[in-house]
Amino acid sequence: METKNIGLRGIEVADTKVSNIDGEKGKLIYRGYDILDLTKNSTYEETAYLLLHDNLPTKQQLDEFKTKLKEARFIPKQMQINMGNWRKDADPMDMLQAFVSALAGYYDEEFSSKESSYDKAINLISKTATIIASWNRIRNGLEIIDPDPSLDHAGNFLYMMFGEKPDPEIEKIFDICLILHAEHTFNASTFIARQVASTRAHMYSAASAAIGALSGELHGGANYEVMRMLLDIGDIEKVEPWIKEKMEKGERIMGMGHAVYKTYDPRAQVLKELSRKLAEKTGEPWYKITEKVETTTISEMKKLKGKDIYPNVDLYSASLYYMLKIPMDLNTPIFAISRVVGWAAHIIEEKFAEAAPKTALYRPKAVYVGKYCGPEGCEYKTLDLRK
Ligand code: ACO
Repeated sequence: METKNIGLRGIEVADTKVSNIDGEKGKLIYRGYDILDLTKNSTYEETAYLLLHDNLPTKQQLDEFKTKLKEARFIPKQMQINMGNWRKDADPMDMLQAFVSALAGYYDEEFSSKESSYDKAINLISKTATIIASWNRIRNGLEIIDPDPSLDHAGNFLYMMFGEKPDPEIEKIFDICLILHAEHTFNASTFIARQVASTRAHMYSAASAAIGALSGELHGGANYEVMRMLLDIGDIEKVEPWIKEKMEKGERIMGMGHAVYKTYDPRAQVLKELSRKLAEKTGEPWYKITEKVETTTISEMKKLKGKDIYPNVDLYSASLYYMLKIPMDLNTPIFAISRVVGWAAHIIEEKFAEAAPKTALYRPKAVYVGKYCGPEGCEYKTLDLRK
């Protein structure tokens, strides 16, 4: 018997109102709004409100939401002390996963009302940013910087990282990056979050499982690998031979290809332009090298497999974050800082079944291809009889 539906590709598992992707047209919609409109007109906070509540906030709703986010930014002192006990070279994604899970040990994890779930979502959005910025300070032997209530989410994160209020242009670029990464239907980490929520585990637990899924290089971990690739290539002249050699060996080029988009990923489109602008400002070569990686991979793919391939969200975010002076191994945690709102929106939807009245505990079927020892099964031999 052959296993069908490997990787659950194309299998419908639940209804959702949170977002939609049109992989053929290259469109991404958050609760009815085109991502391109949101990046032009919205902020991360407005987008987060939209994803959680199914409508854009009024001025008063936004003010209240922002106040709650600001109030939730602090993490417990004990948590900071515990972070200090970690190995300084620990992977920030492992650290984030552990400390998001640990939030349940400090805050009420009760998960039976929709209203209280919004507070947990706010706690997650604000505290993941503080956890990462704090960890970056701790591992570098620096004092943790307290959140600044005069700054919005993007600006405050950069402030907690670097200890200086960011240039407004940089803050805006970073805010757009957060909007772009906030949600993406049933991607690997979001599906994991929904799956854990379907067991009725609490929100911190579901978010922590999602962080584990995001860390893998075929998912969120790709943006770290992209930057490693760019540094390894180092020079625009070396792009072609580097890419050709990898692809001839059958290796994958990180930041290229997508399970759903069969055309240009709209997020990559926006990030490409931001990366170009930032490279103009900083004079760094990374945008041009990335662009050459894109065109070379496209032409090699055509030559070797006769297929089309396009950049995904990770290709241009890597160079962008590098030029923002964000340490490379924080690329994926920053993805998590943004995506946490998408996870929370899906966890709430899964749990309270607003769009999916038939949600149930996820339990796919496996095709057993293990040992058969006849109709009665294998005879158990005690240790002394085994050869
Ligand atoms: N480089 C080289 N070849 C590729 C790439 C790539 N990046 N992506 C796909 N291919 C090739 C595969 O080798 C395969 O060839 P084959 O048919 O001869 O076996 C063909 O294209 C189709 O590959 P699939 O894995 O079936 O394509 P799928 O659409 O399922 O893969 C995936 C999507 C996993 C993202 C893939 O494109 C990939 O590995 N990309 C690199 C990792 C990456 O950038 N991940 C981030 C994705 S976005 C995100 O998660 C946030």
